Amino acid sequence: MGDRSEKGLVKHKRRSTISGDAAGAHQKTLSGQVKEKEQSQRPRHDTPANKHKNHRDAGDHDFSCHKLQESLLSSDSGYSNYRGILNWCVVMLVLSNARLVLENLIKYGVLVDPIQIISLFLKDPYSWPAPCLIIVSNVFIMAAFYIERKLSVGIISEGTGTFLHCINLAALLFVPAGTVLSLTSITPVGSVLALSVFTILFLKLYSYRDVNKWCREIRQAKARTLSRSQSCPSVHKANGPTEYTHVSYPANLTHRDMYYFIFVPTLCYDLNFPRSRRIRKRFLLRRLLEMVFLMQLMLGLMQQWMVPTIQNSMKPFQDMDFSRIVERLLKLAVPNHFIWLIFFYWYFHSSMNFVAELMRFGDREFYRDWWNSETIPYFWSNWNIPVHKWCLRHFYKPMLVKGVNKLSAQLAVFFLSAFFHEYLVSVPLKMFRFWAFLGMMAQIPLAYLVGRFLRGNYGNAAVWMSLIIGQPIAVLMYVHDYYVLHYESTAA
Ligand SMILES: CC(C)(COP(=O)(O)OP(=O)(O)OC[C@H]1O[C@@H](n2cnc3c(N)ncnc32)[C@H](O)[C@@H]1OP(=O)(O)O)[C@@H](O)C(=O)NCCC(=O)NCCS
Repeated sequence: MGDRSEKGLVKHKRRSTISGDAAGAHQKTLSGQVKEKEQSQRPRHDTPANKHKNHRDAGDHDFSCHKLQESLLSSDSGYSNYRGILNWCVVMLVLSNARLVLENLIKYGVLVDPIQIISLFLKDPYSWPAPCLIIVSNVFIMAAFYIERKLSVGIISEGTGTFLHCINLAALLFVPAGTVLSLTSITPVGSVLALSVFTILFLKLYSYRDVNKWCREIRQAKARTLSRSQSCPSVHKANGPTEYTHVSYPANLTHRDMYYFIFVPTLCYDLNFPRSRRIRKRFLLRRLLEMVFLMQLMLGLMQQWMVPTIQNSMKPFQDMDFSRIVERLLKLAVPNHFIWLIFFYWYFHSSMNFVAELMRFGDREFYRDWWNSETIPYFWSNWNIPVHKWCLRHFYKPMLVKGVNKLSAQLAVFFLSAFFHEYLVSVPLKMFRFWAFLGMMAQIPLAYLVGRFLRGNYGNAAVWMSLIIGQPIAVLMYVHDYYVLHYESTAA
């Protein structure tokens, strides 16, 4: 930096000599401004050039070149600009992975096959069970909607409404699970997609029911106070001309409002969602291109990198060769982690922003800075904000308000989350092994250990380690069991 500012000064000096007196005066002012700007842009830490100048200003001897100072890399120096080191890490990462790519291509050739991907979604081109299941989900959406409508006008009691909602929500989980388990024409990937849609609907309709119930409670409380003061304007009238911009209960109970909520990227219902003013077409296009490109990249990496690594891991598992299992696990960890990171960006940034932009949905906080997590709870509260918000609003806080202690409430949230993780893996694979469930529940002791023994950067490294190593363990467990169940039994 010091060098650069000095060079800048020399350049300006030369210009003023060339352009003569008047222009020179002008240039001087200009160069003065530039100099001021450059000084204000300088980093706060002392570079050797800065320090030298400071000494001259302080009236020290010009020729003195030593002073009391720490080496840059010692922590007492206060130096913190490691941008170059970060770039070095990126260059090393690219180089080492270029070698891996080459090794992979030499060993396996090109395995990427876009046509084969279709077979992951469809077994038979004449039968599309997963999309059919998703279309059927409208029945449950309409059931929740009409239950709320009946409740709003008092045709059914709160108790009956709660009972009907429970049946509807239970059916939302059991009907698709039963269909997937009984159908042979559905693929595991198609099942995961269908069950994910149903799980999202379950959480959304639970929230829809809760919020409308809260609105009824507020309406009843207001009606009680108003009847005491002998004046009771209708809710509709009170809204007046602002009805369209600010909806009040029960004016929200329309098909349009219900389907808007179903499509927007949030799990928590609100009567009035924040809306952006217009659709930004360039933003939309960028997100769409990212979605298409990253999807292809993920599928390509899975075919080329992950599948052969998993296939090569089966033998060490059969032989129970522990050191080879660990070696395979570490090998799988790298592609698995890359694909997970790409998935994060694809899903939480590109796709959610795309849908939000299209629906003019204003709240774009889909994730926070989970990559800086120094504790496990921080990670879980920041990486998937829609799920975290739902957990807080509809499960965790209601439990705390009812007097449940914090630890039990947290345990209950993780138990629910573990259930859904297992549901989304075991049912599509038609194999109940509980690895996903245990993986999620293991977060609680892990959170305790990390919080108790590790701080700062060590805590952050522990969170990264748990992500990089934890996931491939679960992947290998499921693949191994799936392999034993489907291929070894047929070979025997
Ligand atoms: C369990 C979980 C909800 C805890 O979240 P947390 O942020 O650590 O919880 P905290 O105890 O700090 O409290 C959070 C909120 O509850 C409030 N709260 C705390 N004690 C309360 C009480 N006794 N009564 C009412 N509110 C209370 C806090 O004020 C805070 O409110 P705010 O968010 O409006 O500031 C979170 O870890 C989580 O979401 N886990 C599961 C995540 C998951 O499974 N994700 C799946 C992704 S695939």
